[in-house]
Amino acid sequence: MLKNKHIIITGAAGFIGSHLTEILLKNNNFLILIDNFNEYYLGKEEQLEEITNNYQNKKDFILIRGDLTNKSIYNKIQPEVDYIFHLAAQAGVRYSIDNAAEVTQNNILSTVNIFEYALKQNNLQKVVYSSSSSVYGNPVYTPCDEEHPKSPISPYSISKLCGEIYANYYYREYKLPITSLRFYTVYGPRGRPDMAIRKFYSLMLKDKEIIIYGNGEQLRDFTYISDIINGLILVCETEASNGETFNLGFSNPISVKNLVNKMYKITKKEEKVKFIDKQQGDVDITHSNINKAKRVLNYNPKIDIDQGLINQYQWQVKDSSKR
Ligand SMILES: NC(=O)c1ccc[n+]([C@@H]2O[C@H](COP(=O)([O-])OP(=O)(O)OC[C@H]3O[C@@H](n4cnc5c(N)ncnc54)[C@H](O)[C@@H]3O)[C@@H](O)[C@H]2O)c1
Repeated sequence: MLKNKHIIITGAAGFIGSHLTEILLKNNNFLILIDNFNEYYLGKEEQLEEITNNYQNKKDFILIRGDLTNKSIYNKIQPEVDYIFHLAAQAGVRYSIDNAAEVTQNNILSTVNIFEYALKQNNLQKVVYSSSSSVYGNPVYTPCDEEHPKSPISPYSISKLCGEIYANYYYREYKLPITSLRFYTVYGPRGRPDMAIRKFYSLMLKDKEIIIYGNGEQLRDFTYISDIINGLILVCETEASNGETFNLGFSNPISVKNLVNKMYKITKKEEKVKFIDKQQGDVDITHSNINKAKRVLNYNPKIDIDQGLINQYQWQVKDSSKR
C-alpha cells in the first residue's frame, strides 16, 4: 500500500478517481487532485467533497479545478510528486460517436500534457495510464490477452489506444516509468450514471421500464471497483510493470440479460424490460485474460458479480434516499 507519498490523481472527482482518492487519503498520502468537473454527469463536486471533508484540517490534499488540456494549470502543481494516476478522460463510447473531435482533443491532449509534465519530475516512481478494454473492439478470440489485435470501434476507444501508444513512446524514448491498464466495465458504489448497472437500478427503484440495446445476449466482463483500485495500487508496487500493459477484469463475463435477471431478484421489483436495436460502438463480448496481471502484479480480483451487485444496490438505495 502506498503511504506518505506525494501523488497526483487526475479525474479525481470521477467514479474511479474518487475511490482512489478515498483510499490514498486514508493512508496518509499527500494528494494533488485535478479535475475540470465536466458536465457529462452531475454530482461529482458533492461526491469529492464528501470524501475530502474529513481531511480538510490535516491539509493532506490540494484540489486543482482545471483542465488538463490547458498548459497553464501545470504551473500550479507543486511540489515534486512520486506517483501520477492519470484517470481523467471524457468517458462514454456513445457520447464519443456524437462528439468525436471534442473527445479526441480532450483525451489525447490531456494525456500528452500530463506525460510531458511527468518528464520534468525528478523523483517520479510511476505514471499509471487508464486505458480500456474497448481498444480490442470486437474480439477475434476470447478471452483477450494483451497481445490480441486492437480494432477500436469508437472515437473514445481510439483515443484510449492512442494514449497507450504515447505511453509506450515515453517509456521507450525517455524511460518514463509508465504502465497502461485496460479496465473492463467497472461498477460499484458511485458508479457512473451513464453505465448500465447504475442506470438500471435507478429505473428499477422508480418502477420504470429499462431498455436493453440488442438482444441482451452480449457478454460483459463486469469488474468491481475495489478490485480495480487494488490493481492500480499493485502496479505502483511492482517495478516490473514499467513499460507494460495489463488487462484488469474479473474474467467471468455474463450476458446483459442474465445481469438484469440478477438485478430484478435483488430489487424484488416487477420486471419491465424493453429491447431495442443494438447501438453503434457496442461490442458483442468483452472477456479479459488476466493471467499477465496475476503473474506480474499479483492481481487477484475478489468480488464476483453477485456480491458486487448487492453492494451497488445497497449504495444506490441509500443514495436515492438522499435526493
Ligand atoms: N468506468 C469504466 O468502466 C472504465 C472502463 C475503461 C476505462 N475507464 C477509464 O478510466 C478512467 C476513469 O473513468 P471513470 O469511469 O471514473 O470516468 P468519470 O467520467 O467518472 O471520471 C473522469 C473524470 O475526469 C474528468 N476530466 C475529463 N476530462 C478532463 C480534463 N481535460 N481535465 C481535467 N479533468 C477532466 C471528469 O470531470 C471526470 O471527473 C477514464 O480514463 C476512463 O476512460 C473507465
